[in-house]
Amino acid sequence: MAFSQAFLDELAARNPIEDVVGHYVALTRRGSNLFGLCPFHSEKTPSFSVAPDKGIYYCFGCHKGGGAVNFIMEVENLDYPDAVRFLAKQAGMEVPDDPEYRSAYKEQERLRNLCKDAARYFHQQLNGPEGQPGRDYLAKRGLSRATVTRFGLGFAPQGWSNLLDTMTKNGYTKEELLKVGLIQKSQKGSLHDRFHNRLMFPIIDVRGNVIGFGGRVMDDSKPKYLNSPESVIFNKRKNLFALNVAKKSKQGRLILTEGYMDAIALHQYGFDCAVASLGTALTEEHAQLLAKYTSQVVLTYDGDEAGQNATRRAIPMLEKAGLQVKILRMQGAKDPDEFLKKYGADKFRVLLDRSENQAEYRLLSLQNRFDLEQDDQRVAFLREAAELISTFGAPVQREVYGARAAEAAGVTPEAMKLEINRAFKRRKAQEQKRQTQADMNVEAQRQPREKELRYSNLRSARAEELLFAQLYKSPEHLQDLKLLPQQFSSPLLGKAFHMLQQQQESGQQPSLSAMAGELTADEMSHLSRVLSDNDLLVSEETMEQCAGVIRSEYQKSLLSGEDAVRNWKEQFKNKQRYGG
Ligand code: UTP
Ligand code: MN
Repeated sequence: MAFSQAFLDELAARNPIEDVVGHYVALTRRGSNLFGLCPFHSEKTPSFSVAPDKGIYYCFGCHKGGGAVNFIMEVENLDYPDAVRFLAKQAGMEVPDDPEYRSAYKEQERLRNLCKDAARYFHQQLNGPEGQPGRDYLAKRGLSRATVTRFGLGFAPQGWSNLLDTMTKNGYTKEELLKVGLIQKSQKGSLHDRFHNRLMFPIIDVRGNVIGFGGRVMDDSKPKYLNSPESVIFNKRKNLFALNVAKKSKQGRLILTEGYMDAIALHQYGFDCAVASLGTALTEEHAQLLAKYTSQVVLTYDGDEAGQNATRRAIPMLEKAGLQVKILRMQGAKDPDEFLKKYGADKFRVLLDRSENQAEYRLLSLQNRFDLEQDDQRVAFLREAAELISTFGAPVQREVYGARAAEAAGVTPEAMKLEINRAFKRRKAQEQKRQTQADMNVEAQRQPREKELRYSNLRSARAEELLFAQLYKSPEHLQDLKLLPQQFSSPLLGKAFHMLQQQQESGQQPSLSAMAGELTADEMSHLSRVLSDNDLLVSEETMEQCAGVIRSEYQKSLLSGEDAVRNWKEQFKNKQRYGG
């Protein structure tokens, strides 16, 4: 679809790049440009820049860049016309309509409207005569009317086609209802509502669109929650429950909970910065989303095994997104909802202010596993604590937490410090060893598998491999290179080079199979691997560089005595074998 230049000019004027990008990325001004964390790749230090005067963005890390429309295409995953529509809508502009164009964006808009209408319907049902069981349940859970309204909670009544009938009457198609998972097909092929006799929690994205639902039973039946399936408008990895409300909070942090109910209860008790994940583990996308709205996240996962594992997994992900992470530990209640009801908001605030950073959290988690009244357990705790503390980056951190662990176990800080230092050195040594091993593995991978073919000089062998593969493809360069087979460090590659020369002289095309007669099976397979590993054509200059490496490594080997002798012997052997 072609938009007029006048239209596009106005679109650009009404959508300054810094505003468009600013919706997604926290930007800080540095000189005439703005910088932030790139939304297209994961990074800790900002390499994403916006130049308002040029109307463009550019990431020095992943090299993505362009104007406002490109940005929306990329970040919203829209094609060009839809990205234009998207920006036009934001700026309140009329989009010239083109009936020919099948707009994915328009389709998605219809699905979003459908979900909004469905949410309205559920909400009306909650307030209507059918909604009594839902209202009773909410009252039992202590949710106020204001809370119910703020989160747009609703009720799906008994029955199989309440929503289906209402929404088709409102002009939506069955296909659309299926697409967002509000209805489903039975095995017999009939269509029916997904949600019935459930309390409905609309899931709303940061822009205020209803994108899905969670539906809770009102008794102990299973599953407790039924959620909308993922759809073109609903991605669980990228959205968080209640963020549409919490993003406006002035509390300077976001509280991350496991359950819808926890987030809602927190809001009702005055913590308007609570969000919940959507029944899935936290993802990197969630972390980046959170980082757009805050710099500190407090984790309030359940104290049970699963919750603690989730906490451990979430910490590095959040930190990677540049967030400061705190962990709130509750006693006497399994989750924030229960805690607030039992002990009230003030007690929760105390916990919040006391929430631990991750170093404390991990140390305390460790400490809880041991009975420090017993000597052997104390020793075991101190050993593990030293191990843990030795992984903390900053020396002051090691000092402070070392002292704390020492105090907990009743030993002197000095003794603990020694233990930590020992653990630190041991770990460093291990890391070093691992690194060396890794380096060696990389080197080993470049080595031929057969012992007899092992390279004695990897630097030269690399150049020999590349050069051989290149000459195999373009043998005309053979004459230009002033290189002798005996200068090759690898007898096999030297031999192969020599055979190439011979084939060239006798006017033959290079042929590995023609060499088969003079090579062992291992040698043949190694050369095949060399040819397939070095498939790219390189410049003549690179070939000349390879020859240079081979010559200079050869010179070195001559000077280093022992190698030279071996080399000559090998070459001599080869010469005899193929009479060169
Ligand atoms: P919880 O069982 O802790 O739920 O599951 P909750 O929100 O605290 O609800 P109440 O207090 O029991 O009423 C945590 C989250 O896991 C997802 C939901 O997102 C829920 O909020 N979940 C749980 C499901 O998706 N399906 C389930 O069957 C259970
Ligand atoms: Mn709960």
